[in-house]
Amino acid sequence: MIRELLDARAGEDYDLYARGINPQFMRVLKTIGFDRVWARAEGQYLYDSEGNRFLDMLGGFGMFNAGRNNPRIREALMETLELETPGSVQLGVSLLPGLLAEELLKRTPARLARVLFTSSGTEAVEAALKLGRAATGRTRVVSTEQSFHGLTLGALSAGGDRHFVERFGPLLPGFSQVPFGDLEALEVALRTEDVALFLVEPVQGKGVNLPPAGYLEGAQELCRSCGTLFAVDEVQTGFARTGKLFAYEHWGLEPDLVTVAKSLSGGYIPVGGLLMSQPVYDGVFDSLEHSVSHGSTFAPNDLAMAAGLATLRELDDAGLVERSARLGARLLELTRALTDEHEVVREVRGLGLMWAMEFGEPESGSVAWRLMERMQSGLFAQLVVVPLFTKHRVLSQVAGHDLPVLKGLPPLVVTEQDLEEFAGALDDVLAKAGRPTRVAGLALRAARAR
Ligand SMILES: Cc1ncc(COP(=O)(O)O)c(C=O)c1O
Repeated sequence: MIRELLDARAGEDYDLYARGINPQFMRVLKTIGFDRVWARAEGQYLYDSEGNRFLDMLGGFGMFNAGRNNPRIREALMETLELETPGSVQLGVSLLPGLLAEELLKRTPARLARVLFTSSGTEAVEAALKLGRAATGRTRVVSTEQSFHGLTLGALSAGGDRHFVERFGPLLPGFSQVPFGDLEALEVALRTEDVALFLVEPVQGKGVNLPPAGYLEGAQELCRSCGTLFAVDEVQTGFARTGKLFAYEHWGLEPDLVTVAKSLSGGYIPVGGLLMSQPVYDGVFDSLEHSVSHGSTFAPNDLAMAAGLATLRELDDAGLVERSARLGARLLELTRALTDEHEVVREVRGLGLMWAMEFGEPESGSVAWRLMERMQSGLFAQLVVVPLFTKHRVLSQVAGHDLPVLKGLPPLVVTEQDLEEFAGALDDVLAKAGRPTRVAGLALRAARAR
């Protein structure tokens, strides 16, 4: 049935989406030339209807760590469907959720003792906020500026991106933010001893900001001394993205709460989870009456659980943690070499295969650059993303709104050759985009487009 539908309506992707879902988004994709008709996907590649291969440096915003359409995860899903497993009994349980919880807890510090499954990252964050409040009897939540934790109201109240907040307020009371990396500010925020949790991404997804040395360890210590739960959001950094299974391992952290999602199902099925310490569990689910104080109908469904089990096995069997660390180092090496060649490149940073290149006004000074930034901040990164896609067939993204930062989150099955080609493509695009006349032209075009 699906094959017939896809054949019969082939090529209508964008028109149909515009008609029934989101015409404004389709206008954006058409304007920047991203309106390809996609035919199939495999590993780190997307193929359009004309047979062109694109390197996916975006990785579905980080949900395809194990590669797109991973055959072993697909096999596990098909097997589960064929088995007609008795999932989601609701007043009864099946085996798969317990198995996935066991596998997750095997791979995390002993401090984490229980898992609450969710169907997305933002829902895992909501769970952290709610359970954190109930377990501590406190209401305040502290997070960091420039953070991203999802788009439901609680997660949005913790997040730091004004673009997503405007028009949707008022946000939840009791939330405040401190600069990422600033322990003194955190100490001031926590010392009143009324903060339920401090929520932090170990590497901020928006901008790919790495924590300064000692920051996360210091934050954990401050949380412990102030009775605040230390909550680490691993929705984007988890499952080998940064060269460790979880990013907190880089600093030997032992959080009280950890949120996961995205790549846990290999990108096939919505899934997420909140890993929590025993005291958090005990503080919330403290009686028979409170045994189902939080949850969601679809969360521990058998397909999501099967995909999770298969993904964890795939990360192990394919050595993706080590691969992410090794290829991430190679990507840094290849792209740092571009810093000397192109004045607009200010910094290249990353951890594992979470990578970014930040642009800035050339040191020699550029009126055109300043003009362009005044038109629309972060525009230069957009102007790199577009030719990377249209000319070099590389799908990438700007790291958040208004940032002159190009970001890469490729599936971890990417090869060294892919990365070399990516660096070559970037070199070519920067050589053209970075020329003063070109920057001036782009600034002018940006001005006209407004
Ligand atoms: C760190 C972080 N937390 C939470 C979320 C929200 O996850 P979801 O989009 O699955 O709701 C994201 C999504 O990008 C994220 O990067």
